[in-house]
Amino acid sequence: MRCTKKIKDDLFWVGINDRRLAMFEGVYSVANGVSYNSYLLTDEKTVLFDTVDKSGEQRFFENIAFTLGGRKLDYLIVQHMEPDHCACLGELIIRFPDVKIVCNLKSLELIKQFFDLDFNFEKNIVIVKENDTLNTGKHTLRFIMAPMVHWPEVIVTYDSLDGILFSADAFGTFGALNGALFADEVDIKKDYIDEFRRYYANIAGKYGDQVQSLLRKASALKINMICPLHGFVWRDNFSYIIEKYSLWSSYTPEEKGVMIAYASVYGNTENASEILSCRLRDMGIKTAMFDVSVTPASFIVASCFRWSHLVFASTTYNAGIFITMEDLINDLVSHNIQNRTVAIIENGSWAATSGSLIREKLANRENIKILDNTLSIKSSLKKEQLPQIEAIVNAIAADFKDNVKPVSSPPNEVKTASVNIDPAAMFKLTYGLFVLTAKDNDKDNGCIINTVTQITASPLRIAIAVNKANFTHDMILKTKAFNVSVLSETAPFSIFQRFGFTSGKDNDKFKESGYEDRAANGIRYISGHANCVISANVVNSYDYGTHTLFTADVAQSFILSNEKSLTYQFYFDNIKPKPQAPKETKKGYVCKICGYVHEGELPDDFICPLCKHGAEDFELI
Ligand code: FEO
Repeated sequence: MRCTKKIKDDLFWVGINDRRLAMFEGVYSVANGVSYNSYLLTDEKTVLFDTVDKSGEQRFFENIAFTLGGRKLDYLIVQHMEPDHCACLGELIIRFPDVKIVCNLKSLELIKQFFDLDFNFEKNIVIVKENDTLNTGKHTLRFIMAPMVHWPEVIVTYDSLDGILFSADAFGTFGALNGALFADEVDIKKDYIDEFRRYYANIAGKYGDQVQSLLRKASALKINMICPLHGFVWRDNFSYIIEKYSLWSSYTPEEKGVMIAYASVYGNTENASEILSCRLRDMGIKTAMFDVSVTPASFIVASCFRWSHLVFASTTYNAGIFITMEDLINDLVSHNIQNRTVAIIENGSWAATSGSLIREKLANRENIKILDNTLSIKSSLKKEQLPQIEAIVNAIAADFKDNVKPVSSPPNEVKTASVNIDPAAMFKLTYGLFVLTAKDNDKDNGCIINTVTQITASPLRIAIAVNKANFTHDMILKTKAFNVSVLSETAPFSIFQRFGFTSGKDNDKFKESGYEDRAANGIRYISGHANCVISANVVNSYDYGTHTLFTADVAQSFILSNEKSLTYQFYFDNIKPKPQAPKETKKGYVCKICGYVHEGELPDDFICPLCKHGAEDFELI
């Protein structure tokens, strides 16, 4: 039995709904189904706009037969050749062998690819280009090319009599139509906008420039109604959905707030994420949280298109990013995510790498600012690390100055930090880089530190700050003696790998190092790439959470060379290897007229082999 809806006296919805489909395009879960819209115009000529998915073929043809009421079908306009809209094209031609197919050259190519048809293409195909028109009696239909919204052949159609834009995939949504056809019959803002966003971000999110191009073309039209291929027909309040499209396609956050996605095997990364989220909420900052192993990526990608700040918290797995988090990050990169501030939390019980790998993947994205404050957890969050969470919270809160509530103290351990503290200010201080060495009986060890300063000249006293996670720290606590080798600008990266990237607990960091020299205190120092050595004896030690501050009297000091002392800045600019540039992706241009795709650079005198338009009618994909 047919099931159609009347839109105007001579325009009908003849589509179908599908609530049995589990995964749209095989990847996007659609728990609320999906509609495949098709429209039939019964003017002096009859015109069908697209067909539907194969799953609804029988009902679709019942709908067409009923609406035609015995008339023949004159035209099929093919706006989009993806099979959710064209699957019934072959059967349609069998049933209506005289129908004329109106499409562009790219669609014709795809029709021949998808179907093995016995059809007189010369006689029954009408090829259209940008702004070509088709008169059907009272109505004149104008064709507007919309390549890559979402395939290269896409066209949209404007009915100038009624001001109707048949918009193909644009302005659509996941979700079956439950009896209502018009957007104003339901509560879009409350019940549907999340699915509009999820549909947009995942289907067209990669093609922001092309969607912007369509929006520009649409802005020149007087639109009274929008008829998309999925979801509701819009007959008023267009500005709401057009503004959303304008934000999404320019990768502009819809709202200020923080999306937190975490990958946690045993709940400890989740715990750190929860604490972070609680602290942000304490400040009145909106948050959304997702367990990437539970929530399908399409929902999280959509959330990333919504919020201004993104936090990725991932455990390390097989020496890399946790599987589901890596999939999400790759998905976001594929969908061209831009213009966001990102914070990273990593966890690793013995060799945490997930944070730096996530950073590498996102580092070269356009306008992605990655906060320096990375929290690295070893197995589970420790009390001493709460200030690091506060540092991330404060760095994020600095972007919400006008929105944050006065800071409330976190329970128990953490000192209140003012939102006016910008942690980035700490990076304006100048730091050197030093190898700190110690000796405990037969054990020689060393680590990299960046904080050594002279406190007084008489007595000649210095202070060093050492992370408690370093084995050298424990040795100095016990032996109360150390050497500082001041690294020079000639220091190779291998010194940092040797003393900074491994633990002396299990390794002999000096093995095959060539650093055999010892100061008068018997402790080794670094010759060759250090310009001086300072030996000192601990006077006092102060516990500062993650670090111990040692004050120590200088017992010996001597110059090794006149090379310049190495600064932290010099190290980052000249010694630390830069993240690998992403593999070069193929450049391509698409013809705005017919959708032909040209790979590689486009010469100025290029002529489209299909429609013969020049290079000025191509745009970068
Ligand atoms: Fe609804 Fe791009 O197909």
